[in-house]
Amino acid sequence: MQKLVIRGGPRLRGEVRVSGAKNAVLPSIAASLLTAEEVRLTNVPRVKDVETILTLIADLGGAAEASGDRVSLRVPKILSDEASYGLVRAMRASILVLGPLLARFGKAVVALPGGCAIGSRPIDLHIAGLQKLGAAITLEHGYIRAEAGRLRGAEFAFDKKTVTGTENLLMAAALAKGETVLRNCAREPEVADLAALLNKMGARIDWPDPDTARVRGVRELGGAAHEIIPDRIEAGTFLVAGALAAGDFVVRGVVPGHVGSVVEKLRVAGASIEPEGETALRVVGRGEVRALDITTLPYPGFPTDMQAQAMVLLTQAEGTSIITETIFDRRFSHVNELVRLGAAIEVRGDKAVIRGPAPLSGAEVVATDLRASAALVLAGLVASGETTVTEIEHLDRGYERIEEKLRGLGAAIERIGT
Ligand code: EPZ
Repeated sequence: MQKLVIRGGPRLRGEVRVSGAKNAVLPSIAASLLTAEEVRLTNVPRVKDVETILTLIADLGGAAEASGDRVSLRVPKILSDEASYGLVRAMRASILVLGPLLARFGKAVVALPGGCAIGSRPIDLHIAGLQKLGAAITLEHGYIRAEAGRLRGAEFAFDKKTVTGTENLLMAAALAKGETVLRNCAREPEVADLAALLNKMGARIDWPDPDTARVRGVRELGGAAHEIIPDRIEAGTFLVAGALAAGDFVVRGVVPGHVGSVVEKLRVAGASIEPEGETALRVVGRGEVRALDITTLPYPGFPTDMQAQAMVLLTQAEGTSIITETIFDRRFSHVNELVRLGAAIEVRGDKAVIRGPAPLSGAEVVATDLRASAALVLAGLVASGETTVTEIEHLDRGYERIEEKLRGLGAAIERIGT
């Protein structure tokens, strides 16, 4: 079992480059199921979840080759239409093969993802949308069994904004007969990136308004080459590190517009964050941190995937802060571990009350999910003494070589164990 060992204290300096967005590359890889031609992706992060979905594509009968930050995919036909429980358990984003398998091959069998550390993860809206397009779907023995002739365009409104739900429906509607209008779509940049790839493949998607997608179905889609957008959550994680550890460094390879809500909150908390050219931000931590309230919301609101990281910063703020988590019903598993490091946090329903400043002292802590792991690493940067984060396979699902990137900024962090 590998661990990360962090010694708190060093001020972070220099520059760091973020990788491609995990949550953009996963749907883009799933989209390769929609065509027999080659889909070539660049700026692909080398993270565990990408390996997992490439395994799934190969299990389905597709060819997937990865080299450096490039992935080439070709699915002329499939040998199986089933995404196994094992793979779906490993990564619930495997649900993203449901729409494309159904649209191109008329059948898909995908294990129900079940819950995870951040809450129950229903997919009722994915299913309702696909049924509206004509799919016959049954849920039995823990699997979703979906069948359809050619899907038919329809109007569908999402009850709630769902990122992968919107992505599944965009992919399914791309090959449906006729026009589909999807209302109350998720507006995350990763959704827009998928739509851009689909249009390069020959889909006809446009946006009458930011929450509404109109998809005019086509008979078949072709191959395409596409560069994955930068990971705004990784960028946000480094910006929090700068605000937290009195840093002064540049985060490169970002789309500043994608991190607007995070930058706004960090400025209120006292950090200085200024553009450095078109695709970089310079963050300077001022030492003192101001308390503030944060409510997670669908994009362009403050991202739930940044909630744990922001909480670490607020443990050092002068005063009391309140974080309200509105997206997931159990996304506070990092609280107990932060309290073990000395934080003063109390969870009351969907709110976490953080009293600061609370000096943190290093200890052994356990990672429970991807973003909670990142939060524990951030805490280690400012805790006195040594912090050991275990079960870091969660971290490796979504961050590429995070210890190398932080070491490049001067952090005292190393990976130990086999
Ligand atoms: C995506 O998950 C991201 N994952 C998550 O990132 C992210 O936290 C989440 O969007 C919210 O931004 C990927 O893109 C692979 P949702 P997703 O469907 O699509 C409810 C990370 O750390 N809902 O937008 O699964 C759901 O319960 C991961 O990188 C339904 O009720 O999230 C939640 O309350 C964690 N029915 C809300 O909607 C449905 O059918 C948003 O979920 C679908 C969702």
